[in-house]
Amino acid sequence: MMNRRRILTLAGATGASTLAMPFVRPSWAQSGAVRVGLLLPYSGTYAALGEAITNAMQLYVTQQGGKLGGRAIEFVKVDDESAPPKATENTTKLVSGEKVDVLCGTVHSGVAMAMAKIARENGLPTLIPNAGAEAITRAMCAPNIFRTSFGNSQVGDATGMAMLKAGVKKAVTVTWKYSAGAESVDGFKKSFLKGGGEVIKDITLPFPDVEFQSILAEVASLKPDAVYSFFAGGGALKFMKDYHAAKLNEKVALWGAGFLTDGVEKAAGPAGDGVKTALHYVDSLDNAENKKFIADYTAAFKKAPDVYAVQGWDSMQLLRVGLEAVGGDVTKRKDMFPAMAKAEFKSPRGPFKLGTSHNPIQNFYLRELRGGENKYLGVAAEMLADDTTGCKMA
Ligand code: PHB
Repeated sequence: MMNRRRILTLAGATGASTLAMPFVRPSWAQSGAVRVGLLLPYSGTYAALGEAITNAMQLYVTQQGGKLGGRAIEFVKVDDESAPPKATENTTKLVSGEKVDVLCGTVHSGVAMAMAKIARENGLPTLIPNAGAEAITRAMCAPNIFRTSFGNSQVGDATGMAMLKAGVKKAVTVTWKYSAGAESVDGFKKSFLKGGGEVIKDITLPFPDVEFQSILAEVASLKPDAVYSFFAGGGALKFMKDYHAAKLNEKVALWGAGFLTDGVEKAAGPAGDGVKTALHYVDSLDNAENKKFIADYTAAFKKAPDVYAVQGWDSMQLLRVGLEAVGGDVTKRKDMFPAMAKAEFKSPRGPFKLGTSHNPIQNFYLRELRGGENKYLGVAAEMLADDTTGCKMA
């Protein structure tokens, strides 16, 4: 009962009730719909990320008449709170409690690892609309697990290339201390050190802490050319604001994986001016899919989409390909998964395709935040693939 009440509450909290589609109607009887379980953060520092992903998925399905592959889609949501210790229980709630047909989650790498472990065991079609935990598309890769976002090191790698090109020689890294931060820094070092850059210190703080003062003082005393950072959501906004308030931006250029600015461009205000990042999306990408996506999303939710929304959107595009290949029969996994692996479609980020480990191979763009908007400065890395080390598809 607790579970049902929670799902309903969350539906209201994300504005789902404003859209005309069978969304989050907790149907315990057989409804004929494909039940898509959403394991996403709807509270905490990543709450806005979970909401953007959900909004875009909901919008895509609505535009398809509420159906994919001829089957109605019903979403069932669980707030994972970006809490790894609760991840197994929360995934089990969806898989065994709600008996979902498709699993979709999540944002936080630590939560995603626990979810992926369960998904590997039960073989459910599984979509990852954000978390970049590398093992998921390396040693833990599986025929039923598909990522529509990125590998953590992929983004760091692209940002390192852009920083070298901009003439940065000495950097300090600042990240949350969990797998995504560590892998992001590893990716950054892959290109930055190889190109002759030097990292003088790696500074971390526990997730999701936002006490940055002593870190900022340390960066100031280390005097690097630039900081490479990995933060996202509410924590990213606070980091940019504190960095600016300490006037550190006047001495040390602030760079980061593009999550630093996505979704918080406007809220950052002047604190965001001059922050440079690389990411597989930028709002101003000049393609028809992106323009329509931005217009439709903004009309539906009264705010601009971001990279998280793009990833949610593409998760539903990928699910559509899979369901169409099997006439909506989600149990026909042998036909559904190969169709998804080969899927190519137009994404707001540009062309979408997956590598052999089911992680996107994609362009990364250099962006600079100015006046509340990420400006496109060029391509940071073209059709960059993540390592597939250790991936053996069964
Ligand atoms: C992750 O934990 O993998 C993660 C979280 C938030 C982001 C990017 C990656 O924006």
